[in-house]
Amino acid sequence: MKNFVFHNPVKIIFGKGQIASLAGEIPKNAKILMTYGGGSIHRNGVYNQVKDALKNHEVYEFGGIEPNPRYETLMKALPLIKEKGIDFLLAVGGGSVIDGTKFLAAASFYEGEPWDLLARRVPVKNALPIGVVLTLPATGSEMNGGSVVSREETREKKAFGSPLLYPRFSILDPEVTFSLPERQSANGIVDAFVHTTEQYLTYPAQAPMQDRMAEAILLNLIHECPKVLTHPNDYDVRANMMWTATMALNGLIGVGVPQDWATHMIGHELTALHGLDHGLTLAIVLPGVLWVMLDEKMEKLVQYGQRVWNINGLSDKETALQAIEKTDNFFRSLGMKTRLSEHGIGEDTIREIVRRFTEPVKVNLGERGSITPEKVGEILRNRL
Ligand code: NZQ
Ligand code: ZN
Repeated sequence: MKNFVFHNPVKIIFGKGQIASLAGEIPKNAKILMTYGGGSIHRNGVYNQVKDALKNHEVYEFGGIEPNPRYETLMKALPLIKEKGIDFLLAVGGGSVIDGTKFLAAASFYEGEPWDLLARRVPVKNALPIGVVLTLPATGSEMNGGSVVSREETREKKAFGSPLLYPRFSILDPEVTFSLPERQSANGIVDAFVHTTEQYLTYPAQAPMQDRMAEAILLNLIHECPKVLTHPNDYDVRANMMWTATMALNGLIGVGVPQDWATHMIGHELTALHGLDHGLTLAIVLPGVLWVMLDEKMEKLVQYGQRVWNINGLSDKETALQAIEKTDNFFRSLGMKTRLSEHGIGEDTIREIVRRFTEPVKVNLGERGSITPEKVGEILRNRL
């Protein structure tokens, strides 16, 4: 196991009716900017719950943050933050609203062009405090310091992060997820699944505890979480899903072990170029990464095949290949079209993505840095 420091300061407030406790989590004299998306919170009552809870606070609003939050949209909130002297941000939504709010938290203190925070990864020196009311279990953004923002003008999607961007608290009420469309529920399952594999399907690192935790998350995602699609109003099913997605990317299973993240990096390009949902891009790309990197990932793929998919009595290679096929089939069982051609995407996009990992500087991906731009091309061609 590698050395590590683990410090996750996010207070999780979990369960039915917990939005009512909001007022006690934010200083009485705070000037709050409540951020949200395209209106789902108006339809499912979350907006009213939040406003009720904060009726004695000074609350301003910024709505309209779209899925894959856009830099151009977020920049419109900065003047409001300055003009009103906002000193607390409250994100009410899914990963996009939370990530957009993290960007605002950092950008409000940044002197230059805030895109530098993403494009040049300028370290965040100061940030406004953030609170979260989560409405979509998927990204883990409610309990981590990461953020992903897209720029429409250049069709780019970039990630950044800082310990200063951990939310102060996150309220997770599973009841608010009853209203999720099936497609978003399925995206959440795949996203949590791939967050786990990015931290698990690498090479052995003498970390059996992290391995067993990752396997528990994967087994739970395979056997329990899909019930959200058939029992969308079942509290216990939704509660299990909500906590699972948070656990997949709050840092815990990733301590002391190598991490991959190639599937995410390639998936982000597919979203940037074609607007595909984040979860869907991962369902397309992951089987390709595993297939092309089969030899390097063999030991963990065999472990994954045996422990997660219960594949026994086959050779290592057959076990690994069958595990990849079962992974693809699992994503398809959730309604995902896992082939690029099913989305009308072909060679032009593959060439553009390979170019993006080649210029202006060559970027190699994966836990060993061995996924070259050429290999990215191979991975995507495997998924045509
Ligand atoms: O905008 P509204 O109207 O609220 O509707 C949203 C949106 O259309 C809807 N929705 C959310 N909660 C709902 C609901 N509809 C009904 N009932 C509810 N309770 O769902 C749609 C998608 O929302 P979005 O926030 O975009 O989804 P998700 O949570 O999957 O977030 C995706 C974004 O997070 C980034 C992705 O790249 C993408 O930009 N990620 C962030 C990460 C992080 N910060 O750690 C890690 C991830 O790997 C990921 O990259
Ligand atoms: Zn993800």
